[in-house]
Amino acid sequence: PEAITVQELANRMAEKGADLVKALFKMGNPVTVNQTIDQDTAELLVTEFGHNILRVSDSDVEIDTASDVDAPETLQARAPVVTIMGHVDHGKTSLLDALRGTDVVSGESGGITQHIGAYQVKTKGGEIITFLDTPGHEAFSEMRARGANITDIVILVVAADDGLMPQTIEAINHTKAAGVPMIVAINKVDKDSANPQRVRERLLEHEVVVEGMGGDVQDVEVSALKKIGLDDLIEKILLQAELLELTANPDRAAEGTVIEAKLDKGRGPVATVLVGRGTLRVGDTFVVGAESGKVRAMVNDKGQNIKEAGPSSPVEVLGLSGVPGAGDQMSVVENEARAREVAAYRAEQATKKRTTAAPTNFESMFSALS
Ligand code: GTP
Ligand code: MG
Repeated sequence: PEAITVQELANRMAEKGADLVKALFKMGNPVTVNQTIDQDTAELLVTEFGHNILRVSDSDVEIDTASDVDAPETLQARAPVVTIMGHVDHGKTSLLDALRGTDVVSGESGGITQHIGAYQVKTKGGEIITFLDTPGHEAFSEMRARGANITDIVILVVAADDGLMPQTIEAINHTKAAGVPMIVAINKVDKDSANPQRVRERLLEHEVVVEGMGGDVQDVEVSALKKIGLDDLIEKILLQAELLELTANPDRAAEGTVIEAKLDKGRGPVATVLVGRGTLRVGDTFVVGAESGKVRAMVNDKGQNIKEAGPSSPVEVLGLSGVPGAGDQMSVVENEARAREVAAYRAEQATKKRTTAAPTNFESMFSALS
């Protein structure tokens, strides 16, 4: 019989890992979220939480991306995906804007950069870096809980005058939980009240040991306002990316993750998708969450219509049947029938989950057992 970790089961049930641990504890089975439980226990737990156990045949309908591994010889280098996080007002947006200002392409063309929640910067050396606009921390953990680990590197922005604040610490915890390397950008060093060294010291308390303190976390002093340290930051991102040896197979059916989606008045449902692997092309048939569609048009972060988008490219996709959710997976499939089949199956699963009367609270669920 198969074993599964508590966290993995929680993810599949869209429940909190901690709630499963609690339930298991009450069942006389004290485990942590990272430990595995056997199939019988898992099935019992699933029923206790009021979910349905997937029939084996269901796995024939779902797209199994996890076991669809690309052969090593198909892999090619891809751009790093970098997310900027930090406390409110510490300068995340300013830093993003400043970094975008270093983009040689938009610098040259003077082009208007459209906001699509993600954009790419071409460095002086010609390397591409994909930046994601700071998602709310909830959105970040939600995506992570759903297995959408799309970020390769996190830039933690800490204002040198303000120091470590609650959301800084939250961001540290999220980053650690995601197992993603961090680069600390100590911002606002232009201010008289700036105290970068104090930031480094406070970081120690949260087990973030920067290079200057004998650790291996890269840190860089920047000023988004005065454009200080930006090249240094880019260099550190590229260095970190090199260590990660990021690759993807561009020559396959595309898969991506929805970063954000909305219903646009003129254009209908629009999703910003970060392509993970493969190349997404106009005309491709896809399923995304419980929606399906055919790529009618694609728009890049520079507002240009494009015909194809490879790994690590953020792109606006038009031609969806409805608005998917952030974190939903997009997969290109062979035909419309297949797309509709998977979408319908997912919609059905979602309805089942909503209509299955879940016990109202934990106590009532287990009072019968004790
Ligand atoms: P939220 O999105 O609200 O969480 O804020 P944020 O982290 O994006 O900060 P934002 O970029 O909006 O900057 C907040 C304030 O700090 C603004 O008034 C900026 O002008 C100022 N600021 C940002 N970077 C710097 C800097 O390097 N030096 C100085 N002196 N001010 C800065
Ligand atoms: Mg902001």
